[in-house]
Amino acid sequence: MPIPESLDRNKIPEHIAIIMDGNGRWAKKNNKARVFGHKNGVKSVREVTEGAAECGVKYLTLYAFSTENWNRPKSEVNALMQLLVTTIGKETKTLQKNNIRLLAIGDLENLPGNCNSELQRAMKETANNDGMTLILALSYSSKWEILNAVRRLLNDVKDQDLSEFELNEQVFNSYLCTAGIPDPELLIRTSGEYRISNFLLWQLAYAELYFTSKLWPDFKREDLWEAIIDYQGRERRFGKTSEQLTS
Ligand code: IPE
Ligand code: IPE
Ligand code: MG
Repeated sequence: MPIPESLDRNKIPEHIAIIMDGNGRWAKKNNKARVFGHKNGVKSVREVTEGAAECGVKYLTLYAFSTENWNRPKSEVNALMQLLVTTIGKETKTLQKNNIRLLAIGDLENLPGNCNSELQRAMKETANNDGMTLILALSYSSKWEILNAVRRLLNDVKDQDLSEFELNEQVFNSYLCTAGIPDPELLIRTSGEYRISNFLLWQLAYAELYFTSKLWPDFKREDLWEAIIDYQGRERRFGKTSEQLTS
């Protein structure tokens, strides 16, 4: 599938974040168990990762499991964790081949031991890849991340490693899980839901939002490119007037 000509290669967002939603409904539509939806969701992860790398995206963050998702039925949580282990195991080679570095954000210590160790192994193996960075948000929620940042920050102030007068946006950024990663310019959510669901609240402050009714297992690389084309048609004003931007 070639990249469409209407996609401007000089205006590719550096960082795209995606809330991959709709696996359960996709399975239901196909008269299958929810896990079947998650398994097919992995195919879309592969598609979109390749599609992003092909057009020059530098960072792709995928919301794979939220803090709130721990409240799902135990059998579904277990199946998702198992799927994560097998997928990471299977995909590391492809990541290497495509020069993609894997990172993870979230409360990783809360993941089952084999999950975390598989993740750490894959991150270590791909650490020197300098093509695209793929960031998985796992056991992640933005409120957890921000509270965690504030706790560490307060500790550093107490230990006098940081003065409260030094605190600014840049310093605060360095306490988040996304330290060193630019904020996403584009957020995509599939499945027709119009909410953020506790994802990157701080980092998305000025992101362009793109919603599609497609369910995640139906979302393919051409859908990603379509979202990028839509993004490229937006005027990002950052509080200024349109006239200021064009003059
Ligand atoms: C997204 O699909 C995957 C995860 C949240 C892990 P869902 O499982 O939320 O699918 P729906 O929203 O029930 O259709
Ligand atoms: C958001 O999807 C979390 C992930 C995609 C991992 P959910 O399906 O959990 O979100 P809500 O509960 O519908 O907001
Ligand atoms: Mg959902």
